[in-house]
Amino acid sequence: MQRVAAPGEPKDVAPRLILAIETSCDDTCAAVLDGPRVLANTISSQAAAHAQFGGVVPEVASRHHLELAAPVVAAALAEAGVTLDEIEAVAVTAGPGLIGALLVGVSTAKAIAAPRRLPLIPVDHLQGHVAANFLEPEPLQPPFLCLVASGGHTLLAGVREHAGYELLGQTLDDAAGEAFDKVARMLGLGYPGGPALEKLAREGDAEAFEMPVAMSRNPGLDFSFSGLKTALVYLCRDLGPEGVEERRADLAASFQAAAVSQLVAKLERALKRGDWGAVALGGGVAANGALREAVRVLSERRGVELKLVARELCTDNAAMIGSAARFAEPIPYPDYLAYDAFATGGRAAA
Ligand code: KG4
Ligand code: ZN
Repeated sequence: MQRVAAPGEPKDVAPRLILAIETSCDDTCAAVLDGPRVLANTISSQAAAHAQFGGVVPEVASRHHLELAAPVVAAALAEAGVTLDEIEAVAVTAGPGLIGALLVGVSTAKAIAAPRRLPLIPVDHLQGHVAANFLEPEPLQPPFLCLVASGGHTLLAGVREHAGYELLGQTLDDAAGEAFDKVARMLGLGYPGGPALEKLAREGDAEAFEMPVAMSRNPGLDFSFSGLKTALVYLCRDLGPEGVEERRADLAASFQAAAVSQLVAKLERALKRGDWGAVALGGGVAANGALREAVRVLSERRGVELKLVARELCTDNAAMIGSAARFAEPIPYPDYLAYDAFATGGRAAA
């Protein structure tokens, strides 16, 4: 049901009650937002289904999304205490991500929106990670500098408005989360590796092994994680299986410290170059305690405001997609019926 403008209210009011769907990788997510307020943020993780393969299998992910999409949407609506008839717009991640997984989300969103003649709001997944910072409590107002570090991307975003950002730097090879996952695998930790590696690192000595801090002499704002990963490969080879087993915690701690140090060094460089008064984080790696603490120390040292959203809003979720949708252009019915998901590249929203 479209919201009817109250007397005196502009006719083209932005939709307030938004149902958002996110299926870009291995989590089936649905959320209900009332403006910047999250009424429900439901996630069904497929981690267990992919763990046996040591990583996400795209076909397995698509099949699980197909089975889970409807129940996850129903659960989100139930938790929010909202019926589909009250929803004013349907937001969905259009890309980037696994194309089969994205298509399930986009088709589900269309199937819900079209019979009700609701607008559809396609959202860029990375814009979603940035937009998690616009949610209550204490929504962050642009301008701010945002480090987005996830399993597929690592970038520095200069956020000067709610819709969109300027890409200031990005990884030239692996994403930060991808490096965490690969190193975790070398250390015999399960999938997804990031949280397990962080836990193990707590028992280790971060200075036990000297790690290359990549790109430290590179003057730009780009990142690189493949050298660090290769350094770990050689270290593990030299230590041998027994040595690796013995020093797992030290290896995890040393790797994590080097990865965090690169992320924070680039963030600091970007802060020095711009006139940013605030910094924020986004993406799964932003749930990492060592990174959060290092960014807190940095923000204090540089005297800038720090916004750290709750960990569950860092890793993939649909609330962040609904948040980005609030500032994106809705596509009216039936113009979106032929709308397609995209695996890589261009932004759908903004
Ligand atoms: O944003 P996200 O949930 O999905 C993508 O868009 O990729 O990020 C997932 C990535 C994975 O690589 C995962 O290992 C990493 O974020 N991650 C972490 C932590 N929690 C998730 N990395 C380090 N420490 C964590 N606590
Ligand atoms: Zn993500």
